[in-house]
Amino acid sequence: MRRISFISGVFLALISAARLYANVNNSLMDVSPNGQRLLVANADNASVTLIDLAAGKAVKEIAVGDKPEAVSWINGGPLAIVTLYAERAVCIVDVGEGKVVARISTKAEPYGVVTNPAGTRAWVTHEYPGIVSEIDLTIRKVIREIPAGSYLRGIALAPDEKRVYVSEFHTGVLNAVDLASGKVVDSWKGHSTDNLARHVLLHPRRPKAYLTHIRSMVKVNDGRGSIFPHLSFCDLNPGEGKRRVSFGMDTFNGVYVTTNPWEADISPDGKRLYVIYAGTNDMNVCNVIDDDYKEITRAFSPVQLGRNPRAVRVSPDGQTVYVLNALDFAVSVYKASTMSKVATIKTCEPPKTPEWVQGKILFNAALPPMTSPRWVACFSCHPDGGHDGRVWQQPEGLRKATAFFGMAHTHPLHYSADRDEVQDFEFTIRSALMRGDGLIRGNIKAKVGYHKAELEEKTSNRSKDLDALAIYCNSFEPLLSPHVEAPGKLSEAAVRGKEFFFRKDVACATCHSGPYYTDSTLTKPYKLHDVGTGEGDASEKMGSLYDTPTLVALYRSAPYLHRGQAKTLHEVLTKFNPNDKHGKTSHLKEAEIDDLVQFMLSLPYEALPEKTPNTVEFRVAPRK
Ligand code: HEC
Ligand code: HEC
Repeated sequence: MRRISFISGVFLALISAARLYANVNNSLMDVSPNGQRLLVANADNASVTLIDLAAGKAVKEIAVGDKPEAVSWINGGPLAIVTLYAERAVCIVDVGEGKVVARISTKAEPYGVVTNPAGTRAWVTHEYPGIVSEIDLTIRKVIREIPAGSYLRGIALAPDEKRVYVSEFHTGVLNAVDLASGKVVDSWKGHSTDNLARHVLLHPRRPKAYLTHIRSMVKVNDGRGSIFPHLSFCDLNPGEGKRRVSFGMDTFNGVYVTTNPWEADISPDGKRLYVIYAGTNDMNVCNVIDDDYKEITRAFSPVQLGRNPRAVRVSPDGQTVYVLNALDFAVSVYKASTMSKVATIKTCEPPKTPEWVQGKILFNAALPPMTSPRWVACFSCHPDGGHDGRVWQQPEGLRKATAFFGMAHTHPLHYSADRDEVQDFEFTIRSALMRGDGLIRGNIKAKVGYHKAELEEKTSNRSKDLDALAIYCNSFEPLLSPHVEAPGKLSEAAVRGKEFFFRKDVACATCHSGPYYTDSTLTKPYKLHDVGTGEGDASEKMGSLYDTPTLVALYRSAPYLHRGQAKTLHEVLTKFNPNDKHGKTSHLKEAEIDDLVQFMLSLPYEALPEKTPNTVEFRVAPRK
């Protein structure tokens, strides 16, 4: 009798161990431990959808708040926790009642979330300022904030619950946070080109972490060599030896290229790994090899998915695989033994407007007509309208990839103002970088040298798809700076900095004027300025006159200046302004420069106008 109960005890422990690993990494989806319910975050719809897996249909859609980026069941449900990236909060949803039952304020930009199986704790990654928040779910409060890297996105809880592993989005670095001491105790660095690592997955038994990411080869401007899909394997055992290896997944299937790996999941027995690609809309199904060398082999040919897969989850029994095709607004259900699709379950209605959705589809796609060789999507360098933290060798010179915040109001485009409408990115689609056929039928002006042909060619109203791409790109508005507590609330240092910024003898506001802190206007001739930042740059082909960039959301766009030469805002005003050509800063004391920096980090510190005299037509009109 005793023996039997002992055995069943072990058995139960094994089952719960299997459950434990099924959902301890960040994802837009989470399957309940009993395999009956799937919760899906609809990032663009401010909602989550509850799916009854036995019935194969969505039961209810629950409003949660702006930009839910991850969900996790709490102790199997009916409560679940959801990060609200744009609201500096997480919320707790009761799926039975179909509503939010608690809202917990957090630091800015909460992205990933995991919970412990007992349902007493949650850990959340914050992109900026790069911390992990620990939440006590019984009292529903943040009890600790742990600095753990920069631009943190991915998070996974170790089986013994002693550590969380977090990934840095822009570097692919994996950090281990010891939960007893609240400190980063180990780190796995990859290659300097590693980028867009927004997910971490742990093997259920072996000390191994998997990271999906890309590599950005910034010196190469070619659709066949600029961006590569990667899967990194980190050996979590402390000690010597090769602790991290990375495989280029573009050659995993012979000549069949995959792009923008976004998430992975592993079967509870640890034998099968599923990796989804958000750019080419497909999935690799791999056998996991326990050899610390080859790591994976191919179990199936690539599985064709729907549009923009962003989450993959395996059921607790390992028999079923769920994929969220984010731009089909649907979950596809696959039988794991054959990888045949058995169902498609709609999650929500498409958000905003059909044009915006179509623009987002094109922006994410590494497929014709955007690109023929399939390696590169617009998304690869501008993920969800953000930037990739890289300085690229463009034909016209070294250029930092820019984010799109406030872009609808800050045309012309590019540092050299050689484009006056987003539709001009037809030139990029057809260039060596993407090698696509393009969205306009017929020819456009040939690009000869560095002549601004784009300004002569009218590209808007020539293709519905290209207009849709413009509408999508022009839809990004900045969030309130994390350096500001509430709208209008500048810190004392920032208030002092603001005075300097607007003072005549410092003269920043002569060029960084208006609500978006730029004098950019589509009225010709364009205002371009030589602020001394092009000096000594042999790569520059278009001259050192630049369009004044907006200063909103500067806190998250380092490195600074057109070729990222300044690591910090402080350097912009000191090291890279030796002759006072870029505003007058040489007469300022160190503390005054610091105040000026604090002010710039606080932008935007208040609500911005939705329309200015320079706002373009191709965008989603703001909600009334
Ligand atoms: C290899 C990386 C890369 C890819 C791929 C890429 N871009 Fe860019 N993008 C950049 C860089 C670098 C800049 C800055 C160039 C400049 O300002 O001169 C930029 C600038 C822009 C800007 C101007 C932002 C502003 O405010 O001036 C827009 C719009 C843009 N890209 C859209 C796109 C679109 C649409 C696609 C896909 C067709 C695309 N990009 C593909 C790297 C990339
Ligand atoms: C004569 C016009 C002009 C004045 C005056 C001016 N700026 Fe600029 N600013 C620019 C231009 C043009 C650039 C782009 C230069 C480049 O990228 O190489 C720029 C770039 C910047 C950047 C980098 C933005 C980024 O995203 O990389 C910062 C920060 C900045 N300015 C702050 C200031 C401050 C603070 C002052 C006052 C001390 C100032 N500027 C005065 C025109 C001006």
